Amino acid sequence: MLSWDELDTPETSAAPHLGMSSSTSTKADHAEPAVETAESTPANVADARQVSDDDSAAIARAKAALDALDVQEGLDELEGSAARVSVDTKRMINCRADLNQLVPFKYDWAWQKYLDGCSNHWMPQEVNMTADIALWKNPEGLTDDERRIVKRNLGFFSTADSLVANNLVLAVYRLITNPECRQYILRQAFEEAIHTHAYQYCIESLGMDEGEIFNMYHEIPSVAKKAAWGLKYTRSISDPTFNTGTVETDKELLRNLIAYYCVLEGVFFYCGFTQILSMGRRNKMTGVAEQFQYILRDESMHLNFGIDVINQIKIENPHLWDASMKDEATQMILQGTQLEIEYARDTMPRGVLGMNAAMMEDYLKFIANRRLTQIGLKEEYPGTVNPFPWMSEIMDLKKEKNFFETRVIEYQTGGALSWD
Ligand SMILES: [Fe+2]
Ligand SMILES: [Fe+2]
Repeated sequence: MLSWDELDTPETSAAPHLGMSSSTSTKADHAEPAVETAESTPANVADARQVSDDDSAAIARAKAALDALDVQEGLDELEGSAARVSVDTKRMINCRADLNQLVPFKYDWAWQKYLDGCSNHWMPQEVNMTADIALWKNPEGLTDDERRIVKRNLGFFSTADSLVANNLVLAVYRLITNPECRQYILRQAFEEAIHTHAYQYCIESLGMDEGEIFNMYHEIPSVAKKAAWGLKYTRSISDPTFNTGTVETDKELLRNLIAYYCVLEGVFFYCGFTQILSMGRRNKMTGVAEQFQYILRDESMHLNFGIDVINQIKIENPHLWDASMKDEATQMILQGTQLEIEYARDTMPRGVLGMNAAMMEDYLKFIANRRLTQIGLKEEYPGTVNPFPWMSEIMDLKKEKNFFETRVIEYQTGGALSWD
């Protein structure tokens, strides 16, 4: 516990040396302030740099090193210009404004999602896993088909969230040139770390073979194909020499955003989420299911943030959204849907938990239609009906709203989730 009393020592209250003049204000302090620049140094601050007899050799060396600091050169290396930022100068990609000035906001929705993400904060250890451990260790507790579903999904998700996190911090963050969106991306990256932690926590609690689970993305074809499909889109833009600014490179970033937000987080997660949540609804593996429900709540927001970013890039750069890009985006979502259908068949060779692969196929086509229309493309599976309306109840309708559709108002904070 921090106490302000500990900080209120005579040393720290001698603030005038730091330019905090409240306790020693003089008339001069109230005069018209001189325009300060990064290079101008008031005399009392310069005095602090003088080497005194009390200073050790190390302190004297540190002070001398700062005499050589070129402030202008340091600031010139910042991204964007040094000018004050106005809303009009802010852009999602290829922005030249200073990226260290968070406000004024241009994309209020991004800041709101950052705030909503913070209010939804949770940690895996808060979920009680006792009933899951007893059920998992009981040879009669689950059928082989149910065990297969738990293992496959922990195998897929434990590495998928790490692929998403790496794509964000090693590739996307640098190329999205807007501070409020970067603020959300930092929040999202931490949430991905929490998700990976949650899967690890489940695997450890249940005493699973960690080598088997964490290597599924190498060893199980239906898992490996999805991971490889996503990684293909990270490869080009994670090259440190990659930069946007041409039609081709801007399109490459757009492809990455569609691959990760619309397909990985928007399609590849949905068979597994449905299976695990269906288990929870049947009172089986309720701790794992609760972890997945918290994760799903976060993922719905990641997805909708990504869709807002993609749509904003389209608005600011309409030349990128030409017929060939639309066709590519459609193809990407259709390929992702096909891979997820194959994953559904692999994870459900027979009917289980009141569902089967054919029903999941319909559900995935319903999800694909939604992803297509959310970024302005036409449905490719017209007339598909959602066979799992309870999934929509949990997320599509309540939380899966983005700025371009309507504002989200139904965020819970922290604790209670409801299975209703
Ligand atoms: Fe995640
Ligand atoms: Fe995510």
